[in-house]
Amino acid sequence: KTKIILDTDPGIDDVFAILFAEAHPDIELKAITTVYGNVTIKDATHNALYLKQKYQLNADIVTGASKPLIRPPVGPTVVVHGEGGFGDVKVPAEVEGQADPRPAYQYIIDAVKAEPGEITLVAIGPLTNLALALQADPTIVDLVKEVVIMGGAFGENDHRGNVTPFAEANIHDDPHAADMVLTASWPVVVIGLDVTEQSFFTREYLDQLRDDAGEVGQFIWDVSRYYLKFYIEKVGLEGCHVHDPSAIAYVINPALFTLREGPIRVVTDGVAEGMTIQKFDDRVYLHDEWMNKASQKVGVAVKDAELLALYRNSI
Ligand code: BDR
Ligand code: CA
Repeated sequence: KTKIILDTDPGIDDVFAILFAEAHPDIELKAITTVYGNVTIKDATHNALYLKQKYQLNADIVTGASKPLIRPPVGPTVVVHGEGGFGDVKVPAEVEGQADPRPAYQYIIDAVKAEPGEITLVAIGPLTNLALALQADPTIVDLVKEVVIMGGAFGENDHRGNVTPFAEANIHDDPHAADMVLTASWPVVVIGLDVTEQSFFTREYLDQLRDDAGEVGQFIWDVSRYYLKFYIEKVGLEGCHVHDPSAIAYVINPALFTLREGPIRVVTDGVAEGMTIQKFDDRVYLHDEWMNKASQKVGVAVKDAELLALYRNSI
């Protein structure tokens, strides 16, 4: 079993990912650390506590950062995830249970130190909590098993982002945190839009989940209505991209993905703020000392049919 701490801003596709991680026997979902992003930190933590109650999750729920390190907050993406983050599904105002008293970054440090080499950090929201953990205790880079991130866009044309032509949402929300996390000398795998936009939950796929996967399938279907509508009406697609569950799929079966190696940097301001750049060739530039960082892995292709089957068979 891979022990994971899932850092998340739930969020509709975050729900898809949380329930996937909980369902798969090869994953032990140790904790859910929350972060602002799709919703406010208050809603993110409330939504996570609700899922814990509803599905009797063993995972600790831990409250994370409420805003980016340096840049002004972008704010919740109501048009994609709805007012509270679960689309048209209203989360009850009262939920049982409480978040761990520690801030997420401290929980991450404590957990990683308690089980050196055992914990995989899976981040499917802005990278602020991971950056705060690195700042507070840089020794964790040698203690974490792997860091798997849904974020970024590495395509070669100039229309490669989803919130700007250049930037993907999680990285754009906190580019300074992302640059810290992606350049630190721990083993990072980035599953970005280049692969997550290659898999689709179509209307038919979601209908089948609802029909075959019991209450969990029904809940995924209910929550997905708003997201699907956004994709059909605003993006012009016949299904929604499979962003956050792809990071979980990587943890379960890395062979689904083709990876490319090289150091990564993030543009932290200006028109291309949040753009991710990987240097993956041997060319020597006059001034590439800014790129001279740890080599990381970036997903460039995915076996999408196998990923969709894995998801369906797990839920
Ligand atoms: C990412 O941004 C959020 O809207 C999703 O939950 C996902 O983590 C996709 O760009
Ligand atoms: Ca997310």
